[in-house]
Formats: sequence, C-alpha cells, structure tokens
Amino acid sequence: MVQGLMGTAMADLLNSDLLNYFKIALALLVVALVENVAVGSSFSWISSSNRSSHIDEANQSSIKCINVSTGGENSPFPTTTLRLITVFKDLRPRVAMSTQYDTIGSRYKAFKERPVVDIEEPSVLKRLGSVEGLTCLDLACGLGHWSRLLARKGASKVIGVDISQTMISSANDLLPDDLKPTISYQTGDCSIPTPVPGGPFDLIFAGWLLNYAPDYATLLNMFRHIHVNLAPGGRFISITPNTHCPMYEPIDDYYGVAVWPVEKVGDEGWKCHLKAYTEPEPVEFEMYHFLHGFYERAAKEAGLGEVRWWPPVMPEDERREGGFWDVYLLRPHMLVLTASRE
Ligand SMILES: C[S@@+](CC[C@H](N)C(=O)[O-])C[C@H]1O[C@@H](n2cnc3c(N)ncnc32)[C@H](O)[C@@H]1O
Repeated sequence: MVQGLMGTAMADLLNSDLLNYFKIALALLVVALVENVAVGSSFSWISSSNRSSHIDEANQSSIKCINVSTGGENSPFPTTTLRLITVFKDLRPRVAMSTQYDTIGSRYKAFKERPVVDIEEPSVLKRLGSVEGLTCLDLACGLGHWSRLLARKGASKVIGVDISQTMISSANDLLPDDLKPTISYQTGDCSIPTPVPGGPFDLIFAGWLLNYAPDYATLLNMFRHIHVNLAPGGRFISITPNTHCPMYEPIDDYYGVAVWPVEKVGDEGWKCHLKAYTEPEPVEFEMYHFLHGFYERAAKEAGLGEVRWWPPVMPEDERREGGFWDVYLLRPHMLVLTASRE
C-alpha cells in the first residue's frame, strides 16, 4: 500500500513541470562540466549541440556560446534548445599597469586636451583650498600638470612621483625654469607604503592613481603610502572614476574619451579600457573602476579619516549655459575624493 502510494507520488513528480526544469538545470550543469570534451557525443539525451565563439572587436573580448538541444526519442529531458554559456573575457595580452605609460609618454599631453579633461581643474580647485606655503606630494604625477598647478598656487615645495620613467622624463622636459626651485620629480611605485624623502607632506594630491589598483590589497597599500607620507592634520585630495556609478555600460565618446568594461573584477569592480581620440593616433590604457565602498574601506583601514566624495564641477565658460555638458551630467566620469590624517 505504502509502496503503491509512493509509486504514484513518484510518477506525478517525474511528470511534473518542476522536475522538467530540474532536468534542464541538471543538463546545463553536466554540459558546463564537460565543456571541454566533445559535447553531445557521449550523452544520448542531447540531440544536438554546437559551439561557437567569436571575437568582439569593439570590446576586444571573446564570446563563447554552447547551444544545446535536449529531448527527442528515449531522452528523459524535455525537448528544448538552450544557449548555455557565454564567456566574457579580456583577450588582449596582459599589460602591466606599472609600465603601460612608458609607451604613452608625452602623447599624454594630447589626452589632456580632450574636452572631458576640462572638468578636472574646476572640480579639484573647488576642494583644494589654500596651498600657500604648503609642502605637497603629487602622486602619479604623469607629465606634472598638477605639480605645476600646486606650485603656481603658492606651494613651498612639490615632489611629483610616478612609476613611469618615461612620464618623469617628459615631466622634467615640461618644467619651466621659474618652477624648478619648487618642483622635483622622481620615479616610484605609490603602491608600496614607504616614506618619500622630504616628507611628511601637508597635502597629498593623486590625480588618477587609485584607479590603477587592480585589487583591494594594492588599493590598501596605496592608501598606506598616502598615510605614511601625510603629516598629522594633512589633507589628501584625489581624482577618481565615478565610483557611485557601476561600469555595466560603456561611457561613449561624447567628450573625446570612451571607456568600456573588459572584465568583471569581484563583486564591486571592473577592469576597463580607455581610448582617447587624440591625433595622430589614439591614446589607450587600462584601469580599474570599483564602487565607492571599496575605496572607503581601504582608506579607513589605512588610517585616513573624513573620507568624502565630491561631484565634478563644469568649467565656467560658454559651454555651461549652452547645453554642451547635458549628456555628460547624466553620467559623470569622475569624482573628487578627499580625506585627512588626524
Ligand atoms: C592618467 S595618468 C595621470 C597623470 C596626472 N596625475 C594627471 O592627472 O594628469 C596616470 C599616471 O599614473 C601612473 N601610475 C600608475 N600606477 C602607478 C603607481 N603604482 N605608482 C606611481 N604612479 C603610477 C602612470 O604611470 C601615469 O603616469
């Protein structure tokens, strides 16, 4: 009797939609596991399968799909076709974050003339306050734009540090004679928390440094480098990607620069490719974009306080009233991050 009841219940279950979904899920799992053997050849319940892969030139990624049809005679599975796997993967050869600017060098100057870069200066100046008489450290100084700005605003001493020897050489070439007593440049990796000779500094600036940290450990070390080199009571100010906006969608080239995600990194990040439409050839590099909590945790763990985000400020020119920035403002590409050392 009990056996009879169980048999009926089992038969009902075996014919139920629920079980069919379970069978499909199981089929997907098995196919996923055997993705590297000839799919379909050893499984009678797969009536056909095909694999396709192609390179998406625009996004420089590979997309791989497996289409599986289940069902047919003698198959325990319902008749259905499923697109099984799509793999989104960065295909390009790995470029070390630390050396990619060696091939860019002075071409970065043309990048700085893209319209979107015009937003950086008013956004930073709004948060910078007085630097009169302050000692300043400019991390990831590149060609020295911000070092020169800090010196012109009255800083008593500015040291610019960059990991790329090529960028440092170009920064020295661009250093005007009148600023030579105030500014000096040196190569160094700002993700190694060591004191920079001549510090600690009253103010540390970092324009687009934090976005070269590929993971939390590196980001934490960048913040530790900042903490080690910041005098008590000193201020930190930084330009970062727009950490309040996830990077699911590319940023289109409306303002001279396009950015698109090439790989998801953990739950909170994306590896991105940036292309600036400069002449005679584009400037391109890779960087990382994490959500704001990721940066806040690292800054606080390194010992910084008063961690705050600030929105970008549009330049005070005719473009402000003319609607030029309307599309930009729907999704700004940068934010300013400030913090301090108690
Ligand atoms: C987008 S450029 C920004 C240059 C400059 N701060 C500006 O805003 O014009 C980024 C710079 O970060 C430097 N960089 C990347 N990782 C670094 C690291 N770990 N330590 C020091 N510099 C780094 C690169 O060499 C490059 O010059």
